[in-house]
Amino acid sequence: MKTFKRYLVTSALPYANGPLHIGHLAGVYVPSDIYTRYLRMKGEDVISICGSDEHGVPITLKARNEGITPKEVVDRYHFLNKKAFEDFGITFDIYSRTSNKIHYETASEFFLKLYNKGDFVEKISEQYYDEEAGCFLADRYIVGTCPHCGNENAYGDQCEKCGTSLSPNELINPHSTISGSKPVLKETKHWYLPLDKYEGWLKKWILEDHKEWKSNVYGQCKSWIDQGLQPRAVSRDLDWGVPVPLKGAEGKVLYVWFDAPIGYISATKELTPSWEKYWKDPETRMVHFIGKDNIVFHCIIFPVMLKAEGSFILPDNVPANEFLNLEGDKISTSRNWAVWLHEYLEDFPGKQDVLRYTLCANAPETKDNDFTWKDFQARNNNELVAILGNFVNRTLVLTNNYYHGAVPERGATDENDESVLAEISAIKKNVEASLGNFRFREALKEAMNLARLGNKYLADAEPWKLVKTNPARVKTILNIALQITANLAVLLEPFLPFSMEKLRKMTNQGKADWANAGRTDLLKPGHHVNKASLLFDKIEDEEIRKQIDKLHQTKRANEQESATILQAKEPVSFDDFTKVDIRTATVLEAEKVPRTTKLLKLKIDTGLDIRTIVSGIAEYFEPQQMIGKQISIVANLEPRRIKGIESKGMILMAEDKDGKFVIISPEYKVSNGSPIK
Ligand code: 2FM
Ligand code: ZN
Repeated sequence: MKTFKRYLVTSALPYANGPLHIGHLAGVYVPSDIYTRYLRMKGEDVISICGSDEHGVPITLKARNEGITPKEVVDRYHFLNKKAFEDFGITFDIYSRTSNKIHYETASEFFLKLYNKGDFVEKISEQYYDEEAGCFLADRYIVGTCPHCGNENAYGDQCEKCGTSLSPNELINPHSTISGSKPVLKETKHWYLPLDKYEGWLKKWILEDHKEWKSNVYGQCKSWIDQGLQPRAVSRDLDWGVPVPLKGAEGKVLYVWFDAPIGYISATKELTPSWEKYWKDPETRMVHFIGKDNIVFHCIIFPVMLKAEGSFILPDNVPANEFLNLEGDKISTSRNWAVWLHEYLEDFPGKQDVLRYTLCANAPETKDNDFTWKDFQARNNNELVAILGNFVNRTLVLTNNYYHGAVPERGATDENDESVLAEISAIKKNVEASLGNFRFREALKEAMNLARLGNKYLADAEPWKLVKTNPARVKTILNIALQITANLAVLLEPFLPFSMEKLRKMTNQGKADWANAGRTDLLKPGHHVNKASLLFDKIEDEEIRKQIDKLHQTKRANEQESATILQAKEPVSFDDFTKVDIRTATVLEAEKVPRTTKLLKLKIDTGLDIRTIVSGIAEYFEPQQMIGKQISIVANLEPRRIKGIESKGMILMAEDKDGKFVIISPEYKVSNGSPIK
């Protein structure tokens, strides 16, 4: 395995347009913090970079909705989020922001270097323009009817109902969210990064040279590359962002996904004058911690930018996590379905480590995972309190009771003692191996096994029964239990920094140093430990019930909101109604559309023909479930291309209050093609 001289750890820059929640911590920041704390403890040269991503259309939209400026939005959330990270012990070396001057300079320079080398393709295209407001419209500023599911509030880049990615010209009846007027198409010039030219290079760099990347990351990259890459615009017609640094480009800014990753570079510059050694020396290992929605940007687009620029190193690994759900439902800021970090701290003051522990033990490392309050309580009561806290407490209380806090000598050891001592260094090696492979859940479990081992050791050895009859033996037992305790204080430091600091104060251990882990003489005979105080305390049912009630209230409020009956549509004539050809059909084949989460491609028998329909129901039905189902379809809807597939018709569905779709099927099987009137 290649060894590195130093480490550059980056964590996705969160948008400064909302507060942070547990999904952020679990997906990105707890793992990145564990990793950096571990490297620091090993004495590595490491810097951890993060900051606020302060550009992008959602920020301007939020400002518009609240009647404030984008700057006011980002100021509010930058400081709130910076504090939340500090409160949870996420130890970035810098938490910068992309509105800083140094970032504007760095991003502009980067753009110009590529521009001057002729790396961009310039293209004139037609984009929607709001004549009343006098500006081009970013995709998010255009709303219309989704051609796929009929949602009348689909955005120009995505329908949030069915999840389909859209382009604005696919929307039916598009209108501007700024003035409400119907936008017109107008020519505009933009600069494109020719990703297609880098396809061969990416194939080798990722698919051949980085086979060790996590399978979820590798798989997503492979699927993007296999589908063929297209040039990607790096500028936008907007007034919020880093201006395109060219004459004649007034009113244009760099695309947020072009400037944001450059934010890692500008933050490093802000942190240290010797930033270049972190970014330009191949002996630096760069690791990007991100969530799965950021994979393409960090594995394909940013590396192509870096490669094109020519003087920077590339990421050595991108350990992206999947998503964390909350009580079985997707975390959503707009539906307030989240556990907000600042609210958690109000309800559970001083319990940062309990959340860090739960989120790491249950991290969505290879698949989406669920956070439940019951699991949170169980992890605290059955693991932190009953295993770790209990072992440490017993060891320290007995040492204080029997020896006034002085570590006793280890005398003759038996076979079991020796195997326990050997286990300490074996566990250290296992934790190291897991951390080195970004398997944080496994690493934590392994470290906790040491506390389990300690508990079992004390329970089997029963020193309290021997203290009168065999004091020499009790000294040996407690010496070993104390070595386990001291090792826990080191091994668990990256995961539970607040509690392990407290523990090291109790054991008088000083700074946590990874080189000490695995040693069986960490606390020398005669060394004094302090009185024990509880590391963790039980979380009662009542506290959990309050949290669950809070979520129920949110759910009810959301349901009431969505239960408001949709306004009746304008009457249509009978003649108009009969123009819609609704029929029964049967699904013959079904498969997921690659690179989408919500789309199924269905081959159906309509009685008239065999055809393909693409439908946004993948969240509700597995492909297998659909095969053989009789459904109803609009058979004469004009064909549309969705993700490059021609979709002929639409499947009829009822949308339930909570946004779930239910298929409309005939009561019993009828012949395909039967008209529905
Ligand atoms: O998804 C997000 O929250 C983005 N703001 C992440 C940006 S990461 C980096 F490129 F800056
Ligand atoms: Zn839709």
